[in-house]
Amino acid sequence: MTLWGGRFQGSMTGDTWDFTVDDSDRRLLEVDIKGSLAHVEMLGKQAIIPVGEADRLHAGLEEILEEVRAGEFDFEQSDEDVHSAVERRLGQLVGEIAGKLHTGRSRNDQVALDLRLYLSEAAQRRIGELHRLAATLTDIASEHTGTVVPSYTHLQQAQPTTLGHHLLAYAWMALRSSGRFADARERLAVSPLGAGASSGSSLPLDRLMAAQSLGLAGVMPNSLDAVGSRDFVAEYVFCCAQAMADLSRLAEEVILWVTSEFGWAKLSDEVSTGSSALPQKRNPDIAELVRGRAASVAGDLTAILGLQKGLPLAYNRDLQEDKRIVFHADDTLSGALAATRRLLEGLSFDPPPPIAQTAALDLAEALVRRGVPFRESHEIVGRLVGRLETTGRAFSEATTDDLLDEDDRFEPGDLELFDPARSVEARATSGSGSPESVGEQIEEIRKLIG
Ligand code: ARG
Repeated sequence: MTLWGGRFQGSMTGDTWDFTVDDSDRRLLEVDIKGSLAHVEMLGKQAIIPVGEADRLHAGLEEILEEVRAGEFDFEQSDEDVHSAVERRLGQLVGEIAGKLHTGRSRNDQVALDLRLYLSEAAQRRIGELHRLAATLTDIASEHTGTVVPSYTHLQQAQPTTLGHHLLAYAWMALRSSGRFADARERLAVSPLGAGASSGSSLPLDRLMAAQSLGLAGVMPNSLDAVGSRDFVAEYVFCCAQAMADLSRLAEEVILWVTSEFGWAKLSDEVSTGSSALPQKRNPDIAELVRGRAASVAGDLTAILGLQKGLPLAYNRDLQEDKRIVFHADDTLSGALAATRRLLEGLSFDPPPPIAQTAALDLAEALVRRGVPFRESHEIVGRLVGRLETTGRAFSEATTDDLLDEDDRFEPGDLELFDPARSVEARATSGSGSPESVGEQIEEIRKLIG
């Protein structure tokens, strides 16, 4: 059913009709009905339609909501979109007065409202999933507060740290992602209803009443902005794209960790895939798919920005495409969050210790404590590293004489600094990889996710 036949003799059919229809909006069914319930109540209270009729429309919409929840709502091929489908069904249930539902409203403000309500609920679910991921990372980290691994810069071993520290970095990223979804929810919680097609209505609609009965904080202050803007969708897609980029980095690391070269971890059978050709293979496909799908969500962000950039105010049908984009981004993130959690649970860690050279900064800082300027101590340790390297000796084979030959402010006890476990224990700054700091971070994260 179209909502706009009056002025036409002929009608769009076949492929042309199909081209205009995007049934991905079907998932807006419930929020669409909720929005209509609020609208109809307001129409009755404002005496824009008789209260008795508002009540009948309300009851009809409630019935449709029940059908939807029972999985019994049927779409028809002729339904142009979710809004048309609900109005068509309402007509079947309450008769001609269904035509009053759309009083003072356009699909333009309706769809903007629906998407805001839908994304607000979806954001809440993503927040829960991100917290669960942070909890999984934190649980694993708590088993590895003393497992010493190298930290890396440029994928070269940098300083010793702990595996717990490394995993918590991703837990903090997940918490920031959840914070971004929470921030986005605040901007989602305003109602476009009452904007109409573009510039409002001559009827005495109470916009705030409808907004508040939907639990929204207020109304969009400008009707053109209300129906024509999709920055709230772009913001949501960004939340997804950044979270996917973070997951993709973690996935990339898992892929490295389970290589024979890195040897940090092994994958359990439950999260491994085999090769059809190579019998020995145990592949990290889940991680690779998370990494791969992050690309398409980054593409969604480009798509939603591109969708907006050339549009004159206010509503243009291009905007129908926002749903496909944001639903894809949201679904992909949701799936990747669950898969990543399972992947992490399927890892058993036994990483090799860092190489001895990662003690270089500890040596330099020992000299700093004795009054040597850092630039000079950096130079001294750099020379020691170079000398051992050119004489073909491993850094771990350095002797007290080697240290004293380089600079007489070294002390015999400095050789103990080559122990990576001692190095992480000695880390004094907050946020570092020392077991103490990691323990504090775990506590803090657990408090935050409740
Ligand atoms: N299906 C449309 C969308 O998602 C609803 C709004 C249609 N408005 C219009 N003027 N054709 O954008």
